[in-house]
Amino acid sequence: MTTIKRKKPVTTPSKKPSTKPWGMDGKALDGVRILDFTHVQSGPTCTQLLAYMGADCIKVERPGVGDVTRGQLRDVKGEDSLYFTMLNGNKRSITIDSKNPKGKEIVERLVKSCDVLVENFAPGALDRMGFTWEHVNKLNPRIIMASVKGFGPGPYEECKVYENVAQCAGGAASTTGFREGPPLVTGAQIGDSGTGLHLALGIVSALYQRNRTGRGQRVICAMQDGVLNLCRVKLRDQQRLTHGPLTEYSQYGEGIPFGNATPRAGNDSGGGQPGWILKCKGAPEDPNAYIYFITQAPVWEAICDVIGKPEWKTDPEYAKPPARLPHLKQIFSAIEAWTMTKTKFEAMDILNKYNIPCGPILSMKEIAEEKSLRDVGTIVEVDHPGRGPYLTVGNPVKLSDSPCEVQRSPLLGEHTEEILTEVLGYSAKEITEISASGAISPPQK
Ligand code: COA
Repeated sequence: MTTIKRKKPVTTPSKKPSTKPWGMDGKALDGVRILDFTHVQSGPTCTQLLAYMGADCIKVERPGVGDVTRGQLRDVKGEDSLYFTMLNGNKRSITIDSKNPKGKEIVERLVKSCDVLVENFAPGALDRMGFTWEHVNKLNPRIIMASVKGFGPGPYEECKVYENVAQCAGGAASTTGFREGPPLVTGAQIGDSGTGLHLALGIVSALYQRNRTGRGQRVICAMQDGVLNLCRVKLRDQQRLTHGPLTEYSQYGEGIPFGNATPRAGNDSGGGQPGWILKCKGAPEDPNAYIYFITQAPVWEAICDVIGKPEWKTDPEYAKPPARLPHLKQIFSAIEAWTMTKTKFEAMDILNKYNIPCGPILSMKEIAEEKSLRDVGTIVEVDHPGRGPYLTVGNPVKLSDSPCEVQRSPLLGEHTEEILTEVLGYSAKEITEISASGAISPPQK
């Protein structure tokens, strides 16, 4: 048996600060090797973030098939989709049929040589492959095994779950949209990418604890829990309802009684400072000519001056926040009469001078073209041998000593031989035998 090569030990914390310049002493997760059994979105967002932080992420895919998203929503015929390429940067791909006996042996060797196993299969799928937590932990007591599932233990634990199911079950949909309309899902992928983020935090925490205990642990994030965590303020409001109406909701000012559950609040701001989305010059023909405007109490007088209503500064109906609550509709109408005379960017420029909190409604086109986002590496263009250049979202978390270089996603099985040789130490002869077994390539037709 050949020994497994490792990049760097990760368990020897240095007591002395590095003397190397910032950004020149490796990456935050250098030396951490991830066995990435993820697919679709929730799991891949997690492992991509860890890879951005420097982890060596080995994505295991089914021979000939790969992550199902490689072929979903294809925009370039025959090439990996943006769905796949934007969620799998900075990773290596190995194809293994983990149900083939030889394939199982390779996965076992990977388990022994990795620090973290991440998966988001449907409940029970990994067990059916033979990789129960007990088995994985026995193979490598130091490994952290991290999973995304739709639901935690309970009535729905066996269910397969996608993004919008999680948004509905986690409380987001019932609290999103307009009061008079149906529940609404949001465009932000809070179920998938949100849970991936939670899982990433669980993994780095477990790695940190392992430095002390020497042992791995099980990390599980249910998508329902992740969404609920992001809807924390709506559960806050649910409890406040038992003590009276939610006065900052515009429904209160409109005299509409509250029911027994947190209602949908349209574009009301989530905190105690009333806010709304207002038309700017060009709306509604331009669907994004809008601005979010917050009538923050400390800048109320400046707001009155800017919109040409100086008399509201002293009018008892408008001067103080509680007095304004029943008049929010009139107030936002008056502000909108002003914002409609400006483009959203002109309005931003003027309002920012007075520290009035506001934000333009940016289209994806505007975001894709925004220079400042490119300058800081939040929007990154990467080249791909098949599809050519594409845009992706770089690391949204910036570390001063661990700069992120975004790399393209791997082709299916691009690193199979490299991983078998360099990580697992298989010889050329063994690799020929493995190939013949059907463990790393699709069955011959
Ligand atoms: N070799 C052999 N078999 C493999 C394999 C490999 N390398 N990779 C995957 N498979 C098999 C699995 O073992 C499973 O087989 P089995 O069910 O016959 O035992 C099969 O492929 C499909 O896996 P599954 O996870 O059930 O995929 P799905 O397409 O049916 O369901 C989800 C997709 C997302 C609904 C489901 O995985 C899920 O609910 N995941 C948890 C929640 C989640 O992450 N949802 C968000 C997705 S963005």
